[in-house]
Amino acid sequence: MYSAASLTLLSLVLLLPKMASARKRAQTVGFSSCAVVNLRDGVLCLSWRLGDLRGNHILDGVVRAMLVRYVKQPLGSIVMLYQDLDIQNRDIVLATPATIIHKLEPGSPLYSLGPEDLLKDDFELVVSFTYTGDSTGMLHQTRICYMPTDIRWGQCFQDMIKVGKKRYKVDYALFNNTTWVSVPMLSAEEYDRGRNPVEGSQSQSPLFASVKRNKHTDMNPDVLEEAMQHTCL
Ligand SMILES: *[C@@H]1O[C@H](CO)[C@@H](O)[C@H](O)[C@H]1NC(C)=O
Ligand SMILES: *[C@@H]1O[C@H](CO)[C@@H](O)[C@H](O)[C@H]1NC(C)=O
Repeated sequence: MYSAASLTLLSLVLLLPKMASARKRAQTVGFSSCAVVNLRDGVLCLSWRLGDLRGNHILDGVVRAMLVRYVKQPLGSIVMLYQDLDIQNRDIVLATPATIIHKLEPGSPLYSLGPEDLLKDDFELVVSFTYTGDSTGMLHQTRICYMPTDIRWGQCFQDMIKVGKKRYKVDYALFNNTTWVSVPMLSAEEYDRGRNPVEGSQSQSPLFASVKRNKHTDMNPDVLEEAMQHTCL
């Protein structure tokens, strides 16, 4: 009897650290506190970051993003509408922080939304990452909800990867940090129309955000885009 009891105790002791570490990992996988809108290869994109803050695992999973709107019906009831957002890189093997990208292209529910509409709009962007990554094979999910005010138009995430002498290092302290970049302060739809004018009228060059702490302002937009492709991971 004595030995049976201690065996139970022993197996509990052996089990507990495992459970604790699984729980701890669930807390360390997460999304950035904000999302950004900037240009990638000449396309306006919404993006946000996903990372495993402990950084020493490889996690395998799928990212989803959903736009949720609450619409009041004539009789006062509220209906929840949701739309899936296309994600360019849905399947993720997370070893270093990943940037999740949604292109603001025709078909995106955000295509006609400019930076000013964004501030007036009322939706929730719910993003999730469902993954396995430990020997138990258990599924975990981490989620975050971005409000329109969490979406920063004209910013990009700071580079977290530093190349050292022998290997790269990831500076997790910069996970949520962004900097200003030049980005058209127009909806993607207006921006596309400006670049491929339908009517013969002389279209104005896209309005660029006034850029703080950025020396690229006197470059022409093409050079600017190229420069930004290098700076935005
Ligand atoms: C970044 O923001 C997320 C979400 O708010 C938070 O959980 C995380 O601790 C932050 N990371 C850093 C390094 O500030
Ligand atoms: C990153 O953001 C944190 C929190 O806002 C701030 O304390 C820190 O100085 C920032 N780091 C850089 C390099 O901008």
